[in-house]
Amino acid sequence: MLRESDVLSALMRRKPTHSLAQDLYCDPGVFQSDMEQIWYREWLFSIPACEIPKAGNYVVHEVGAYSVVIVRGNDGEVRAFHNSCRHRGSVLCKAKKGTGPKLVCPYHQWTYELDGQLIWARDMGPDFDASKHGLKKVHCRNVSGMIYICLSDDAPELEEFAAQAALYLAPHDLENSKVAYESTIIEKGNWKLVWENNRECYHCSGNHASLCRTFPEDPRAIGNDESGELNELQKQHSERCMAVGILSNYLDSALGDWRFVRTPLLANAESYTMDGKVAVTKPNSTVPFKDAGTLMMYKYPACWNHFLSDHILLFRVTPIGPMETEVCTKWLVHKDAVEGEDYDIKRLTEVWEATNEEDREVVENNQRGILSPAYQPGPYSPTHEGGNIQFNEWYATTMMRGIIGKDTLIESE
Ligand code: FES
Ligand SMILES: [Fe+2]
Repeated sequence: MLRESDVLSALMRRKPTHSLAQDLYCDPGVFQSDMEQIWYREWLFSIPACEIPKAGNYVVHEVGAYSVVIVRGNDGEVRAFHNSCRHRGSVLCKAKKGTGPKLVCPYHQWTYELDGQLIWARDMGPDFDASKHGLKKVHCRNVSGMIYICLSDDAPELEEFAAQAALYLAPHDLENSKVAYESTIIEKGNWKLVWENNRECYHCSGNHASLCRTFPEDPRAIGNDESGELNELQKQHSERCMAVGILSNYLDSALGDWRFVRTPLLANAESYTMDGKVAVTKPNSTVPFKDAGTLMMYKYPACWNHFLSDHILLFRVTPIGPMETEVCTKWLVHKDAVEGEDYDIKRLTEVWEATNEEDREVVENNQRGILSPAYQPGPYSPTHEGGNIQFNEWYATTMMRGIIGKDTLIESE
């Protein structure tokens, strides 16, 4: 098991144009460092706000050692709390999701208001101060209808991302949407392999027959060429969208942790369906044409998303162990769309259900091959795998900044 100093030297030794060293994909010490330096520090996408539309609706989100309750209060605000009672620490919400007028601990029934205040604790004596035993807060932000949490005491800056999300997501009505379907799969692979697979479409033609009916594998359609160049079709599409006020141009952050780009689907396809036509006849966007392509947005380390003219796809990544990762996918449609009338679940989900399963298999094969003593880091395609080079750059930089920052702190104590 690698110590943090070993993780640092493995990161420093890496070749930026090559896949990572074996340890970085499977070692328990690296996994622990990844959790501490990235997952317990960065803003993480949690749920769409529309999943908890009413006061008292809650969802539990588990990240590593932490369990977090995301709950809507009586004032309509969405808040996040550590799922640990302030009496003797029991989990408060046992179910993955639910509804209640208050948060009541199952152990001795200490009762909390939806804003986290402790309002009832039996026989705690005259000196007990309930105001000092409210639930511990977790940073929580509603970014254009997507709830993000941060487990760190000092949450990193989120303003620029939130401001850009407000502009790019404006035509997509997340608040007036509902989750039509969700799937959770466990991939037996390191979370970075899940991301690397997501950041390239080099594997698409050989693995994704359904997706390739509509999704362009051309790396210049989505900014995956190392040069960052986009193709003519994307530029024309962007201009067409911009002409009606829909922000579509490629934009990434200075730190490389998020990106927006809207790309046309193949042959003017409208949605990720087998025939390329919309899956939902009551759209959850105000985009004036059906073939608006897909607005792709990712925010490392926890989500990538597709915003189409008729529905929205949200993907959430959560590391479970050094070689195990949860991928939760949600299909969002207009809240008034009626199943069986405005959309059919199979038609809506079949392309990405198949794609997720195909991705699970390639990620698991990748992990198994990396475990061989014969594995050595191999070169990325500069044409197709610029996204992998970019992801690893973000990963290594973020890790090194975190580890070196901590060491410096210890030395100066
Ligand atoms: S641990 Fe929650 S009430 Fe006792
Ligand atoms: Fe894939």
